Amino acid sequence: MGLWSKKSITQLMQESEGGSGPTLRRTLSGSNLVLLGIGAIIGAGIFVLTGQAAAQYAGPGIVISFVIAGLGCLFAGLCYAEFASMIPIAGSAYTYGYATLGEFIAWIIGWDLILEYLFAASTVAVGWSGYFTAFLTELGVTLPAALVGAPLSVEGTHTLVRSQICVDPATGGLAVDALSRTPVRLEDCVAGGFQIGHGILNVPAMLLVIALTALLVVGIKESARFNNLVVIIKVAIVLLVIGFGIKYIDTANWSPFIPANLGEFGQFGWSGVFRASGVIFFAYIGFDAVSTAAQEARNPQRDLPIGILGSLAVCTFLYIAMSLVMTGIANYTELGVPHPVFVAIQKAGPALAWLGYLVNIGAIAGLASVVLVMLMGQPRIFYSMARDGLLPPVFGRVHPKFQTPYLATIITGSVAALVAGFFPIGLLGELVSIGTLLAFVIVSAGILVLRYRSPELHRPFRTPLVPLVPVLSILICGLMMYWLPADTWLRLIIWMVIGLAIYFLYGRYHSRLARE
Ligand code: ALA
Repeated sequence: MGLWSKKSITQLMQESEGGSGPTLRRTLSGSNLVLLGIGAIIGAGIFVLTGQAAAQYAGPGIVISFVIAGLGCLFAGLCYAEFASMIPIAGSAYTYGYATLGEFIAWIIGWDLILEYLFAASTVAVGWSGYFTAFLTELGVTLPAALVGAPLSVEGTHTLVRSQICVDPATGGLAVDALSRTPVRLEDCVAGGFQIGHGILNVPAMLLVIALTALLVVGIKESARFNNLVVIIKVAIVLLVIGFGIKYIDTANWSPFIPANLGEFGQFGWSGVFRASGVIFFAYIGFDAVSTAAQEARNPQRDLPIGILGSLAVCTFLYIAMSLVMTGIANYTELGVPHPVFVAIQKAGPALAWLGYLVNIGAIAGLASVVLVMLMGQPRIFYSMARDGLLPPVFGRVHPKFQTPYLATIITGSVAALVAGFFPIGLLGELVSIGTLLAFVIVSAGILVLRYRSPELHRPFRTPLVPLVPVLSILICGLMMYWLPADTWLRLIIWMVIGLAIYFLYGRYHSRLARE
């Protein structure tokens, strides 16, 4: 048994059903899964990044960026759907890797997925904190700046949040004029006569992570119920923005649809559209989280493909419509702000002022459900890795009453809360994207391998047009990785080296497969 040993699908399925002790509870319906997907997808991407990517890279061409990233996700989603119907186990891409490419690659995907789920939870929690504190400020409650910002500072190219904050010298509180203090441009802050402060701890972000972790420990059904409610609110608000905003579109804002390139790759023109697709890919992340709930779905073989592809289809439609409306109401040059949806609605004039408030609520609700589903996905992958012996057994413990992987959930929540409290997320956001894209590439390659090696296996859902669809998925996702800034690659490599060290020091010797 070596690095490349694989687990047969029969063995994987038997192991997931067998074993003594409490098991995960199968309670989720198809619609729960679609809503979980939407809960994970719509968040900081559309509410924050869209405007910045339009203003900096693509102009109204951001709509084409959404189509490109959406196609990459559709092709990857079709590959996920085949695997999820065939191997409905909580480990998602990690387990698919174990079945097709061997233990070593499985570990690499498992380790890589921490970037996607755990770091995305922290990233979006910090974004949520920005919206939430600004909302409180509007209500007249000013939190001290030191308690709503991270102490560490690193610049990212499309910073979601930076640790520097504008502080109003009079009150010592955050100086914000609208929705969010993040990511306030330093230049604007200085020009506005504010002091630049640094946070000590991002308390709201930590409290959100802790509260959602507690909910996830108590039950998957309870968590799904909360998610359903939040998703209904945020989708309703997005639909209102599209429905009411459409009347205020000034087509002059779409001309030129793709502003001329400024002389460098990524600065408008087609290369800007491509770079923006790498950036707004973040907005699509999350549909694959549905597959981590495989062992809690009532009818996984039928419902997982519905959950993955259904949530992706709904969000793709909403994103394209929303970006058309935003770039139609406001000129793209005005959208490079932390709250572009709000700014676009303001441009429509006083008639839509009421909608501006709802947009704030939609963002606060929306970002919270992203954090919830990401915090749900991570422990379920740890759970599968622990069952296989690659992580210590505590990660595989299921609560006797709640039937949730409670220890893995608490560990995930604690680490995510610390990261959210102490780290700026400019760098985390890009790591989340590159990590997720890598998982998509490997899963798509896995479909090609398994079709070739085990064509006879029962596949309740079949990816259409193989090999074309997986090859296109690998190509588009690979290109989106390429379009991300070079230092993101460096961080990915460092993360992977740490992961390899853990595998060779622990996983390899404890692997169940190696001991059998
Ligand atoms: N897709 C999620 C978001 O945009 C991660 O917040």
